[in-house]
Amino acid sequence: MANSSFPITSVRQLFPALNSGDNFIFFDNGAGAQIPQSVLDAVCHHLVSRNVQRGGRYRHSQEVDASIQQARQSVATLLNAHEPSEVAFGMNATSFIRLVSLAIADILGARKEIIVSDLDHEANIATWLALQGKGVEIRWWKMREDGTLHVEDLEPLLSSRTRLVACAVASNALGSIVNVKEVARMAHAEGAEVFLDAVHYAPHGVIDVQDWDCDYLVCSGYKIFAPHMGFLWGKRELLEALPTFREDFIPDEIPGKIEVGTFVYENVAGMNAAVGYLEELGRSLLADSHSASPRDRLVTAMEAIRVYEATLSAEALRAMGELDDVTVYGIRKASQLEHRVPTICFNLNGVPAARVAAVCAENGIGVRDGNMYSPRLLRRMGIPAETGAVRASLVHYNTVEEIGKFVDVLRRVNRN
Ligand SMILES: Cc1ncc(COP(=O)(O)O)c(C=O)c1O
Repeated sequence: MANSSFPITSVRQLFPALNSGDNFIFFDNGAGAQIPQSVLDAVCHHLVSRNVQRGGRYRHSQEVDASIQQARQSVATLLNAHEPSEVAFGMNATSFIRLVSLAIADILGARKEIIVSDLDHEANIATWLALQGKGVEIRWWKMREDGTLHVEDLEPLLSSRTRLVACAVASNALGSIVNVKEVARMAHAEGAEVFLDAVHYAPHGVIDVQDWDCDYLVCSGYKIFAPHMGFLWGKRELLEALPTFREDFIPDEIPGKIEVGTFVYENVAGMNAAVGYLEELGRSLLADSHSASPRDRLVTAMEAIRVYEATLSAEALRAMGELDDVTVYGIRKASQLEHRVPTICFNLNGVPAARVAAVCAENGIGVRDGNMYSPRLLRRMGIPAETGAVRASLVHYNTVEEIGKFVDVLRRVNRN
């Protein structure tokens, strides 16, 4: 699809925060994206009409059950899961990584090695490192100078001792995409499992757990145009085998065994609406949308987002390349754009990242500075984790015009 066909104007109209009149530029989407009106409506509707506990015999409670079931189906379609019960809802990605990692440590068996990468968010590193006291041995899959993980470097780390490979689908700091399908193929060839952190990748492209053939995958709803919540997907037989904490009377069955306690039902309703928003975007792009399945519509939307976002990456890298004394980390070549999402990590040489972010804030632009929860990656890139870098993380509602204003502000940052 041609870039000109991406309906950026109508997309932006759906997001109240983008139309509040202040023209604020949201370039901190890696820390959380804005929500469309339909998501806000779904959350409000839930709170107004069914703010009760699930599992009761009265109408409101049964509507909560139905709403959760609907959201499970939507998220299963978004991920191309085999079945909705493989999806569990909860607070956030980190707590799910912790839950799975603790359970795996309890059923390690003879395979004691877990492979982690230094490209990942610390949530998908520290959780696995914390198992070292439980007999786990860590092996490091190291990012190369180019800011990407190469599967050739994973090969020698895998063996009959490997229990699991934990890695990101895309780096939250640099935006580099990992060839996770190949990771799964290689890991499975050695009898190991794969745990994917899709938190940063999820708003940017198609997720297909069946095609990737991964074993577990975690996401945060608040990065995919939903409120604060997270979800975990896992292959049925693997989730069933996980020993999880639950009260004695809770059956050892998915998804209930993963979801003990109460989670934020209104935000799950919001997650369902966020998938609905993406599906509607896909429907609007399809010539023959009636015969298209919900999954087809979602794939169409995410593919169109990917194409549009590549133009944002290209423009951001081009315009920033014209600045004096800027270091942009990670993939920069136009020919390599398919291997990254529009997450641009950089420093203006000689200017503290905090000052750059503060100047952006004064000019109505939200960016992030610091270590992006990836201090190892920053050190690997030669950036002191204490001062860090600046990250502009764009999504499909951002525009080339916003990039222009952003680069103008960067140009005016006082270097003295
Ligand atoms: C790649 C990645 N993994 C994990 C996390 C942690 O997610 P959560 O806040 O849902 O625990 C983040 C948050 O920014 C992230 O970007």
